[in-house]
Amino acid sequence: MCGIVGVLGNHEVAPILVEALKRLEYRGYDSAGIATVNGGVLDRRRAVGKLANLSDKLVHQPLAGKAGIGHTRWATHGAPTEGNAHPHKAGRVAVVHNGIIENFRELRAELAEAGINFQTETDTETVALLTEHHMAQGMDAAQAAFQTLDRLQGAFALAFLFDGQDDLIVAARKGSPLAIGHGDGEMFVGSDAIALAPLTDRITYLEEGDRAVVTRDGVEIRDAHGTLANRQVRQIQIDAARVDKAGHKHFMAKEIAEQPTVLSNTLANYLGTDGQISLPDPGIDFTKIDRLTMVACGTAYYACLTAKYWFEQIARLPVEVDVASEFRYREPPVPARTLALFVSQSGETADTLAALRYCEGKADKIVSIINVPESSIARESNLALPIHAGVEVGVASTKAFTCQLTVLLMLVLKAAQERGTLSDADLADHISALRGIPALINLGLEQSDAMKTTARKLAEARDILFLGRGIMYPLAHEGALKLKEISYIHAEAYASGELKHGPIALIDKNVPVVVMAPRDPLFDKTVSNMQEVMARKGKVVLVSNAAGIAEAGEGVWSKIAMPDCPDIVAPILYAVPAQLLAYHTAVAKGTDVDQPRNLAKSVTVE
Ligand code: AGP
Repeated sequence: MCGIVGVLGNHEVAPILVEALKRLEYRGYDSAGIATVNGGVLDRRRAVGKLANLSDKLVHQPLAGKAGIGHTRWATHGAPTEGNAHPHKAGRVAVVHNGIIENFRELRAELAEAGINFQTETDTETVALLTEHHMAQGMDAAQAAFQTLDRLQGAFALAFLFDGQDDLIVAARKGSPLAIGHGDGEMFVGSDAIALAPLTDRITYLEEGDRAVVTRDGVEIRDAHGTLANRQVRQIQIDAARVDKAGHKHFMAKEIAEQPTVLSNTLANYLGTDGQISLPDPGIDFTKIDRLTMVACGTAYYACLTAKYWFEQIARLPVEVDVASEFRYREPPVPARTLALFVSQSGETADTLAALRYCEGKADKIVSIINVPESSIARESNLALPIHAGVEVGVASTKAFTCQLTVLLMLVLKAAQERGTLSDADLADHISALRGIPALINLGLEQSDAMKTTARKLAEARDILFLGRGIMYPLAHEGALKLKEISYIHAEAYASGELKHGPIALIDKNVPVVVMAPRDPLFDKTVSNMQEVMARKGKVVLVSNAAGIAEAGEGVWSKIAMPDCPDIVAPILYAVPAQLLAYHTAVAKGTDVDQPRNLAKSVTVE
């Protein structure tokens, strides 16, 4: 997934493009580049690695012009090199692309037949070459681009810029999001509204198959059938100020630390002082729902797995949870009275969006839990529930995860209330537990320094296991994911009862095993599994409350004490040690905590 931007401005666009790309770096940071038209001449600058490298290059090799396009890349086809960096240029055409052109090899072969040579290994270069080829056959810029678009298969958001045309950008959306920004005598194109927030709050979202011809006077949009389309211009409320680290060493540290504040805000948006949980319109009538299908990726998927325990135990609703990249290819039946629930921090994850579209016309209701209300997933849901986590910059999701869990738990309690599966007394207890979450997280954060010692020891390991049982099992997965994605140490999670069915063969004195185990009704069983590990010299890190540590902490390699908490909110509280262990281990290893290698914050390709 990549970020693209385009500007038809009244000022030098290079710094504007770079600033917009900074706001898109969450989509990938393998390379970056811009192209401008200056005095009719199309030129470009590109740099491998972070956007700062492109900024440096522009200092020494400035690029003038008031029309331009820009790109920040997460490599799909072709290594992250300067040669493979966008914009790709062929003759009079430059193009930036987010997505994957699935038939690019066929098109390359066709162009090679016509004697056209390639400079790169990328699918995107094919788009530029094919458009130049069409122009060479006499088509004008927009016609040539449209003719190319007719040939493309796969997912793409594209922006084209042309030599000799300083008042034209052609843009197209198919499978990857693209927004048009309306300025005063200026126009903009961007992967999302966040990128354009400092430039305008008037945004038109292109729909699937839309093509746009953009000039400073405005935009002409045609739908997938070539018919003129009148798309809504929305007034977007996005904080244009770029977030900063607020004194923390990393965005991830800041986002972990701000969870109590953010969670208080999340609760306040759904939980009234009267203890009533209210959802935005059109709401959900749980008396008409017999089951849930929940679909997500990564951390959001583990939030769904956690919610499965809550929905089934408390609201007595059967729940099926699937990773989005597998869901639609299973072709699962979606019976009547099914609520399809999609969880996504970015709201732009291509796999999750595709799964949502699979459920259209099948599920009774499509609900999303998102952190970006203007995102594609939110806009295609019957009901979008914001988590109010604020902008999350760190690629490793932290505050979004605890906010997702909190909104999911409120949904569970509302379902239980409407379905009559919970006594008033238990409901009141659970509401009280919800209200106590921010204070509990605060107490959990106080253990941060104590975790550094353990983290420094974990940093020396090659393989680390995470164990959990019952509702703590999904959290073991989240802990393993956090650790591996920012420290690059191999980590796996197992249901603690599953270890003896094979994985225990992995245990020896070199393998730390992190056990997520509050003193809950399953604690004794988990302790037995933990002792099986210790009997084989495994190095146990016990994450529990004081009672658990007092009872089972003897002989463990390391202990992390969490405050006592109601069982129902343990997964939310214990997300904190999972996050902090990963964070401090990565810091000890010196990896790039906020922008880990090979990753991006929002995966907008399948
Ligand atoms: C989480 O730390 C990862 N960065 C990743 O697994 C992420 O949760 C996943 O890509 C889903 O993203 P989304 O919530 O924006 O859909």
